[in-house]
Amino acid sequence: MKRIAVLTSGGDAPGMNAAIRAVVRTAKYHDIEVYGVERGYAGLIEGDMRLLSRHDVSDTIQRGGTILRTARSTEFTTEEGREKAAEQLSAKGIEGLVVIGGDGSFRGANAFYHECGIKTVGVPGTIDNDLGYTDRTIGFDTAVNTALAAINNLRDTMSSHDRVVIVEVMGRHCGAIALHAGLAGGAEVILVPERKVDYDEIAEVLDRGEAVGKRSGIVVLAEGAAPLAEVERELKARTSLSFRTTVLGYIQRGGSPTMEDRVLASRLGIRAVELLKDDVGGVVVGVRGGKVVDLPIEEALAIPVRFEAELYEEAKILSL
Ligand code: F6P
Repeated sequence: MKRIAVLTSGGDAPGMNAAIRAVVRTAKYHDIEVYGVERGYAGLIEGDMRLLSRHDVSDTIQRGGTILRTARSTEFTTEEGREKAAEQLSAKGIEGLVVIGGDGSFRGANAFYHECGIKTVGVPGTIDNDLGYTDRTIGFDTAVNTALAAINNLRDTMSSHDRVVIVEVMGRHCGAIALHAGLAGGAEVILVPERKVDYDEIAEVLDRGEAVGKRSGIVVLAEGAAPLAEVERELKARTSLSFRTTVLGYIQRGGSPTMEDRVLASRLGIRAVELLKDDVGGVVVGVRGGKVVDLPIEEALAIPVRFEAELYEEAKILSL
């Protein structure tokens, strides 16, 4: 394969640029041309792409967001949309496509491969860490550290005022960010979508602290576990503590990627190009037990997202 393209799709994640850079540099190393597609599948359908040089990805490894920009395309979910996209690639003699994104982007990449014969390789880029086949997704480590820095700040002011903060972090279906940031931030309570929210139990934990003179605390809430207003209302009704709320929101999606995310993105970008070089498509790359792996997209998406139940229980022990 002599010509490939790369795009970022879905929610952006810190480290996506490091992955793009690795794709471009590895392709150059193997004498393969790389086109950068703007705005994900939406830009692909419009043929919005340009040839990338080594220089185009200089000074990007440390930058958050994505230099190619990203989008969520509904047109690409249709067969006609995918056909248009395939025509754009064929017109330029492009045979392979690296898709940096999450599960929705991978589903598109799989259909594209099977219907249109474009060799696709998925690289997991999402802050949510919600792909079962890989231990880590690009952006997760940075997002957790961003949430952690915010929790540290919140702890200062909460303990000064004897208040409990309920801090909402991202994670609609997956509590990984809440769990890791909560454990590392010494949270009293961590609420995740994978576990039922029991307000009596939470109130008991907070009351136990109060009984020994602790009137401040941190409750980390994954956005998908329960509505923030409900958590505040239910806890206020059950305890005499003073509550405040903070939503971290999109702050978690930006920022310079951590070393972990840069290294992961670089390794996965390299493997993605090596697979295309060998004419392999319809696969995703990931990391398991420190090793870079690749497997068919269908197989990868069939693996359920693993909730770290042990870590959750360990966090509970430490909050007692
Ligand atoms: O998929 C990543 C994610 O950051 C989720 O945690 C969050 O709920 C969602 O994206 C927000 O997406 P959007 O960019 O569409 O608002």
